[in-house]
Formats: sequence, structure tokens, C-alpha cells
Amino acid sequence: MKSKEVRVGIAGIGSCSSSLVQLIEYIKTGEESHNTGIMFDSIGGYKPKDVKFVCAFDVSDTKVGLDLSNAIFAEPNSATNHIEVSNLDVNVSPGPLADGLTGFLSTKVTPHNDCEYATIEDVTDVLKKTNTDVLVCYLPTGAKQAVKNYAIAAANANIAFINCTPELVSRDEKINTLFREKRLPLIGDDMRSHMGATTLHTALIELLHSRGIIVDNTYQLNFGGNMDFYNLSDSSRNKSKQISKKNSLYAAGIDASTVAAGPNGYVEYLQDNKVCYLRIEGTSILGSNISMETRLEVEDSPNSAGVIISAVRIAKTALDNQEFGEVVENICPFLFKSPVQGMTESEGLSAITKYVESKEESLNGTHSY
Ligand SMILES: NC(=O)c1ccc[n+]([C@@H]2O[C@H](COP(=O)([O-])OP(=O)(O)OC[C@H]3O[C@@H](n4cnc5c(N)ncnc54)[C@H](O)[C@@H]3O)[C@@H](O)[C@H]2O)c1
Repeated sequence: MKSKEVRVGIAGIGSCSSSLVQLIEYIKTGEESHNTGIMFDSIGGYKPKDVKFVCAFDVSDTKVGLDLSNAIFAEPNSATNHIEVSNLDVNVSPGPLADGLTGFLSTKVTPHNDCEYATIEDVTDVLKKTNTDVLVCYLPTGAKQAVKNYAIAAANANIAFINCTPELVSRDEKINTLFREKRLPLIGDDMRSHMGATTLHTALIELLHSRGIIVDNTYQLNFGGNMDFYNLSDSSRNKSKQISKKNSLYAAGIDASTVAAGPNGYVEYLQDNKVCYLRIEGTSILGSNISMETRLEVEDSPNSAGVIISAVRIAKTALDNQEFGEVVENICPFLFKSPVQGMTESEGLSAITKYVESKEESLNGTHSY
């Protein structure tokens, strides 16, 4: 029987996890204003308050063994503590370390001793024992093998997987085939922020294109002070992020091969605030020039929670309806930077809205998708 909850596991209890857990607590207070910014009240019959955290994995000695409600505020996380979170009765388990903490992160995070022995099978066991529906992967960028390990563990537990990182998972042929063969939802790659640099950039490009204006040159420079930016300032760890950001720009209809778009610097005092400088130069009527510069400043981690609050309910709805492959891939472009199939902003919004509306209609017995 369909459970009334969306039972969520999280791998990587960093700043993004912190904001997602805080968001669910915030919503559960029942105040109408606490839903500000949430795009879909109901997806497949699931409200944001139906999201329940049931398991968690990390490798840091500051987080493994703690209740999730405490681990989200442990060092070196820098997401703002917007609310207190009561005990969640979810112990953070040690995960398989693999390449999770290479590069600059190794100077800030010490692996917990138990991670050396943790295996993919251990993760699958926990997912099964806790009846997890969806595993959300929030590992650091560059942790290619570690991210794949969690995807395999999720497939072996017959659940949905969401890859928030830019490492190739939904676009990896072997992993994609594994989820298709098991008829499971695979969602990713590289979550967008709810109102972030990629969304602003691609929306502006779409606006100019809709006026017939040619985009000649553009850049998108990003600075921040959280662990994600610290990790990304290591050139050996940020290649997948650069590629992912360009994938969004290609999907918006420009040749991004020479565009500078990516993480450009770690500025410690900014903490979880991210600053984006964006410039677009184009050619308009009579060959006239047009240019614009925009500065966007956001709290980085809550901005990501605004996307994943929809993604986990889509993953659960797809799991309930045994949807996988293209049906699910078609919903990803609005929520992710590097989906299997890219779309413009308006095409992506239309695809996700159509899916959500059709699920609501079929629940009310008026339409089937
Ligand atoms: N708005 C955003 O913040 C945003 C937007 C798009 C994508 N992302 C991506 O989301 C991911 C998470 O970002 P974050 O800011 O939370 O990062 P973070 O560095 O704060 O957290 C990463 C967590 O993963 C843990 N970890 C490392 N290896 C592990 C392993 N093998 N198993 C389990 N846990 C492991 C670390 O200890 C840490 O707690 C990154 O890949 C980032 O690029 C973030």
C-alpha cells in the first residue's frame, strides 16, 4: 500500500542537508508563511510536511554517530541556523569514504574511523531496514566514485536516487541502464538553486532570444564562503561543475564552449552567502549593441532546499507509479543543471508543471498521465 510519507535518506550531511532538514521542520510548524518560495503545494498527493528523514550517512568524525538534528549544525557546516531542530531519531551512519574527501577538503575534515570498513552493502542494508523511498546524494563535487557507490546502493535497495552533485550519474551509461533495468527513478545531475545564478543566466538568455537578440559574449562569476566553494577552489575537484554549468547554457541555446561560467573563488567571510556577477553582451536591431550586468546575492544552501523539496516528492511519486527512464528524465531539466536532456527555462517549467498537474488530476480521478 502507498505510504503517506516520503521516506528520505541523505548521503552527505553538509550545508545543503542542513537547510533541507531545517526547511521541513519550519514547514511542520503549520504557519502558512513558512511555505514561502515552495513551488508545488502537492506532488502526487504529497505535501512538503509529508517528507520524513529516516536515515543519514556521512564520513566526517564531527558528524558520524550524531543524531541528524545535531549533525546538520556540526563543523565545518556553515548554513545559517534559521531554526532549532528537535531530535529526529536518525543516527548518522558511516558511509563508504572512497574519494569523498580528497583535495582541499582533506585539510578541513577528518574521516571517522568506521568509514574505512563501510561498504555499499552496508548502505543498502540501512536503506532497506529503514524503508527508505528516496536517497538524496549531497556529496562534495569531485567525489565521483563515492557518488556512484551511493547510486548503486540505492538501486540495490530498489529505491529512487537523486544526485545533487555535478558528478555524472544520470548521464552515466552504466548507472542509467541499471536504474532503467530495475524500473527505478534516477534524478539528476547537479541540482539547480531555486533562484540561483544558472536560472537567472538562462532565463535572461531566453528573454533576449525571444526578442531576436543575438548573445555574443557572456560570463557568470560566482564567489562564496561555504565548504562547497572551498572544495571547488581546488582545480582538481571542480571540473565537473564547470562542465555542468556549461551544459545549462548550451540547453539555453548558446555556444558555451568559450564561456566562463563556474565557481571562481572562496571568500571565507561570505560563509553561506553566494555572490554572482553576470554579464551579457549582444547584438540587436540595426546591429546595435546591448549589454547588461547583474549582481545576485543569495543564501546558497536554503536556495538548494527550495529545489529538493520538489525533487524528493517527484521521486516518490515516480516510484509509486513505477515511472523511470524518459518519463522521469523529462521532469529533471527544471530542477537540475545537467539532466540527460537539456531544455530552456520555459520548456523545463512547462514539463514539470504538466507532470505535477497530471498526477493531481489523476488522484482526483479526472485524468491519467
Ligand atoms: N546551492 C547549493 O549549495 C548547491 C547547488 C548545486 C549543487 N550543489 C552541490 O551539492 C553538493 C553538496 O553541497 P554542500 O554545500 O552541502 O557541501 P558540503 O561540503 O557542505 O557537504 C558535503 C558533505 O558530504 C560529506 N561526505 C564526503 N564524502 C562522503 C562520503 N563518501 N559519504 C558520505 N558523506 C560524505 C562531507 O563530510 C560533508 O558533510 C555539492 O556537490 C555541491 O556542488 C550545491
